[in-house]
Amino acid sequence: MDRFLVEGGKKLKGTVKISGSKNACLPILVASLLTDEPFVLHRVPNLRDVRTTLKILTALGKKAQYENGTVTITADGALKNMLPYELVKQMRASFWVAGPLLARFKEAVIPLPGGCALGARPVDIHLKGFERLGAVCTTDRGNVVLSAQQLQPAKITLRFPSVGATQNLMMCAALIPGETVLENVAKEPEIDDVAAVLTKMGAEVFTDEKGRLVVRGQKALRGVEHTVVADRIESGSYMIAAAATRGDVKVDGCVPEHNSILLEYLQEAGVPLEIGPDYVHVKPYDTPLKPLRMKTAPYPGFATDLQAPWMTLMVLAQGASEIDEDIFENRFMHAPELVRMGADIVTEKSIARVNGVKQLSGAHVMASDLRGGFALLIAGLCAQGITEIERVYHIDRGYEDPEGKLNAVGAKVTRYNPDKDDF
Ligand code: EPZ
Repeated sequence: MDRFLVEGGKKLKGTVKISGSKNACLPILVASLLTDEPFVLHRVPNLRDVRTTLKILTALGKKAQYENGTVTITADGALKNMLPYELVKQMRASFWVAGPLLARFKEAVIPLPGGCALGARPVDIHLKGFERLGAVCTTDRGNVVLSAQQLQPAKITLRFPSVGATQNLMMCAALIPGETVLENVAKEPEIDDVAAVLTKMGAEVFTDEKGRLVVRGQKALRGVEHTVVADRIESGSYMIAAAATRGDVKVDGCVPEHNSILLEYLQEAGVPLEIGPDYVHVKPYDTPLKPLRMKTAPYPGFATDLQAPWMTLMVLAQGASEIDEDIFENRFMHAPELVRMGADIVTEKSIARVNGVKQLSGAHVMASDLRGGFALLIAGLCAQGITEIERVYHIDRGYEDPEGKLNAVGAKVTRYNPDKDDF
């Protein structure tokens, strides 16, 4: 398995181009199941999770081509409505196929996504919503079996604004003629991108004056051509990397208002920013970094996916800071690895208390999830000496060409495979 060797003490300088959003393109690719017409998606990042999603679509009977950032999906015979376990276990987001398959076939068998490193991550909100739309949901030997005589539009209130449940239910309702109203939905920008695609396909999807998501479904939906929105988690991760190395980096091709809370926190911590229409320029500074209290929350709150990179930044602040991870029950796996690099962090349930240190030192560490892996990469850039990061495949799930983008702005990150390369 690939590892990264990271040479520390580098200030990043230059421009980083942001890719299309992983968390928008995954559900949008799944929305191709709602039509047999050609489906073209531009600015698709070359990620492990994208390749897994294309395998899933192929396993269900679609033909998928992917070149130069554009995916073209066409029908290739009849669709299947059962998904093999080995694909679901690789990626929880594969459960998003449930909505489209239920809408098209009134019957679908999807392996239950197991828990993952971040915690149990049940799908009860998805299933409750499908039941409101008229489906019967049962579990059978690790599979969810969805079946419906008739699906009908409904008013559904989510007990928690789950991103995945919002997307799954939107896609299902888009193929149910009539008006479905979803209340207490996730408001992440990725939801807007999925809504834009479903609207282009012929369903009308919009947010009403009460902030509810209204889906006016149709009997059939058209093919579509769409360009994926910029990845706000990738852009936020590189902004934090620039700030941590006290570098001078233009994060280009992003949507600053999708990172507005992070920009507030960075400026509050003393990081100078120039905010443009489609870029954020992180400027150099030599004043101490101010420690802050931060709590993750559904959008527009502080993104849980940026909690780990943010922790690395706070490790280098002058004083005590606090992080409250309020979305996932086990999302501090990067903390002990940062401690091995010299950080002073104590975690207790959902709270991490960080006492800033002057300097981190390179160490041999292991990534446990994609955002925690990137947090270790940032720590390696700032540390004295060499950091070796194992299980880089986690980082490859969510960051397109991370070493290429970082080395282009002055980092020294080498990817190697100890089983193949002799270093
Ligand atoms: C999406 O996951 C993202 N993944 C995650 O990004 C992101 O961290 C998360 O939203 C929160 O923003 C994709 O978009 C592919 P949730 P999702 O349903 O949909 C609980 C990354 O780093 N929950 O909003 O799975 C759940 O256990 C990944 O790119 C239920 O209890 O997140 C969690 O504690 C990691 N029942 C919380 O809600 C349900 O039916 C948020 O989950 C569904 C969720």
